[in-house]
Amino acid sequence: MHIKQQIDELEGQAYSELAAAGTFAQLEEWRIRYLGKKSRLTEILRGLAALSIEERKEAGAVSNALKLKLEAAIKQKEESRREIELLSSASRDAIDISLPGRPFVRGRLHPVAQAMNEISDIFTAMGFQVMDGPEVEWDYYNFDMLNMPKEHPARAATDTFWLDAPPNDKGWRMLLRTHTSPMQVRTMEHTKPPIRIVVPGIVHRYEATDATHLSMFSQVEGLAVDEGISMADLKGTLHEFARRFFGPDRRVRFRCDFFPYVEPGAEMAVECAVCRGDGCRLCGGNGWIEVLGSGMVHPSVLEGVGIDSKKYSGFAFGMGIERIPLLKYGVEDIRLFYGSDLRFLRQF
Ligand code: DAH
Repeated sequence: MHIKQQIDELEGQAYSELAAAGTFAQLEEWRIRYLGKKSRLTEILRGLAALSIEERKEAGAVSNALKLKLEAAIKQKEESRREIELLSSASRDAIDISLPGRPFVRGRLHPVAQAMNEISDIFTAMGFQVMDGPEVEWDYYNFDMLNMPKEHPARAATDTFWLDAPPNDKGWRMLLRTHTSPMQVRTMEHTKPPIRIVVPGIVHRYEATDATHLSMFSQVEGLAVDEGISMADLKGTLHEFARRFFGPDRRVRFRCDFFPYVEPGAEMAVECAVCRGDGCRLCGGNGWIEVLGSGMVHPSVLEGVGIDSKKYSGFAFGMGIERIPLLKYGVEDIRLFYGSDLRFLRQF
């Protein structure tokens, strides 16, 4: 066969095989087959020795031209192959379905908010209504109407954040409420008995912050006013609350205490969760932890808002909230609740 014919045949074969080569490995095989040292082209050229000079010249030119064409063809094919590869790997990496899913970080309520909700729910189930009151308050509601006249020690400037504002036309002065008790007065002022309310809210005290004190903290206030309410109702209600909140096996203890707006007044303590009354570090060796102040609403508080104290009586209580999760979980420093460290807060 004429050498030119052989080369033409080879060219056709090379192109059709190149078109069929899909992978890089197949392209490499093709290169070896058509452009390598032992390729058909080399073989053909080796046969040139037997030819005349004229024929050799012609065959050499044709085969060289073919070599260049084939080199260009495979280069182009490799480039487009690489481009396809890049595109498909980019789209493959965009969604790697073999990766484990990314978990959504679920938000949760702050432990103090959780405690407030739980306490409100318990009292709601016992027929109390949840109320909300102002944090910026008049001294009239915060003190005067709660039997704390102007010279009462609880009014001393060291305990209260007073607002830098002139008194109103009645001589009332503005402050940050030091407790939720003013809501007792506000409610009784415009509601006829029977009254059963709880008031969760934030209060402020002009105090240094340490491991067991905050200058801003939360309370839940309670008030029940009706005909024939007695100390037994107070004890029964608060005991039931403690059973539901702390568990049925926790003992509670009532002791006399003094608050100007109740008579008699009582504090309620709960058996320490850790030592069950023996005394440990958490309860400061007492065995008992005081959780709230309470008492029978003072007759002069009732009369102050126009409620007949001969017909009606009531009980009231107020508890600090931050101490409750503190006691429930044995947290050592109350400031952690407001430190915004999510590693701490996510535990609750
Ligand atoms: N207001 C008191 C305090 O902040 C707690 C308190 C005591 C509330 C006796 C009451 C009560 O309603 O009757 O420490």
